[in-house]
Amino acid sequence: MSLFKRKEKNKYEGTFVDSRLSHIAFIMDGNGRWAKRRGMPREYGHSVGAKVFKRVSEYCGDIGIKHVTVYAFSTENWKRPQKEVNAIMKLLEQYLFEALDTLAEKNVQIHFIGDRSILSEKLISLMDKVEKESACNEKILNIAINYGGKDDIVHAVNNALKGGKTSISEKDIDNNLYTAHSPSPDLIVRTGGDYRISNFLIWQSAYSEFIFTPKLWPELNEADIDNFVREFYTRQRRYGGL
Ligand code: IPE
Ligand code: IPE
Ligand code: MG
Repeated sequence: MSLFKRKEKNKYEGTFVDSRLSHIAFIMDGNGRWAKRRGMPREYGHSVGAKVFKRVSEYCGDIGIKHVTVYAFSTENWKRPQKEVNAIMKLLEQYLFEALDTLAEKNVQIHFIGDRSILSEKLISLMDKVEKESACNEKILNIAINYGGKDDIVHAVNNALKGGKTSISEKDIDNNLYTAHSPSPDLIVRTGGDYRISNFLIWQSAYSEFIFTPKLWPELNEADIDNFVREFYTRQRRYGGL
């Protein structure tokens, strides 16, 4: 049975998460394989994956998780065929157009993490608009686009150096990461059955808990999130202590 029972649309009864789980991050993997298994093109997997992303990110907000981060496109994903890259960018654009009308009601503020400078001008201006218009909302959704953990660190160091520093502290890096406005993720979930980080939040995940599930991203649902939350609460986080 679901931990958080839906009474009516967007109203939940039961236990809400507490401050131990303020940030959940997802490596949304497996769209292509999900589609291929159905004899469909990979792009179809991404379009179903985009719907699941919307549903899952909203659900996490509804059950009281303040920060949600999703890995949508990595600095390495440009290696894919142009057709697939275009389809992913188009889906992002569609999502953002719709989001402009719904973010206020959902009380969600969107941040894009990653190097947006090489994206299309149209997409960049839409991203800027969404960030600006949602800035006063309380819950945070970080969408990682052209994101790489290594790039994040290099970018943070360069930003810190611009202030004239000659040596860099951990705090300087923390303060200049793309995710500086969010705490480090308490829990990182990777779908798709692989056990790796694929250049996601490599600095921020120093003490994150991890869940790897064989489920493919388009198969994920609210009950899975409930199970991840339950699993998270069984973990003992020691941070090097006893
Ligand atoms: C989605 O899953 C993640 C993105 C890079 C957009 P994939 O497209 O990597 O799907 P698989 O892993 O090939 O099944
Ligand atoms: C990780 O998935 C990137 C995203 C989910 C956006 P990939 O499919 O790119 O990762 P690898 O290539 O299997 O490591
Ligand atoms: Mg993949």
